[in-house]
Amino acid sequence: MKKSLEDLINIAIENKKNSYSPYSNFRVSSVVLTKKGNIYKGVNIENAAYSVTLCAERSALSSAISAGDREIDTIVITGDSTMTYPCGVCRQFMAEFLDSDSKIVIANSINNYKIYGLDDILPYNFSKKDLEEK
Ligand code: THU
Repeated sequence: MKKSLEDLINIAIENKKNSYSPYSNFRVSSVVLTKKGNIYKGVNIENAAYSVTLCAERSALSSAISAGDREIDTIVITGDSTMTYPCGVCRQFMAEFLDSDSKIVIANSINNYKIYGLDDILPYNFSKKDLEEK
């Protein structure tokens, strides 16, 4: 059965418990819904060598891509701040796989969330379209 946006937000919030963030103690969780209707979860995964840290969004998207499920309907992000927005690296990572109608949902609870498109959060981006133009 297709999950509602509220379901996805609840799954993301519940999944925050799996965050591996012993250094920052800042938990982030992400859920990807693909156009096929499958769900993939991700959390931030920190490392003693700090720069190796993987963000929750890239973790969830990597899981979908690794399953060969590349068409992204929605990505939900929730973290320990009121509204946890994706970092610049994750925005660029999203630009590779999201299309103009994919939804980026920044959620604090099912009663407090905002929905964006990629162009809202990463306008004038560099992506595969540039390479195709050459
Ligand atoms: N973090 C994410 O998982 N996603 C973001 O887009 C912002 C930052 C994580 C990385 C690190 O584990 C912690 O939040 C604090 O920066």
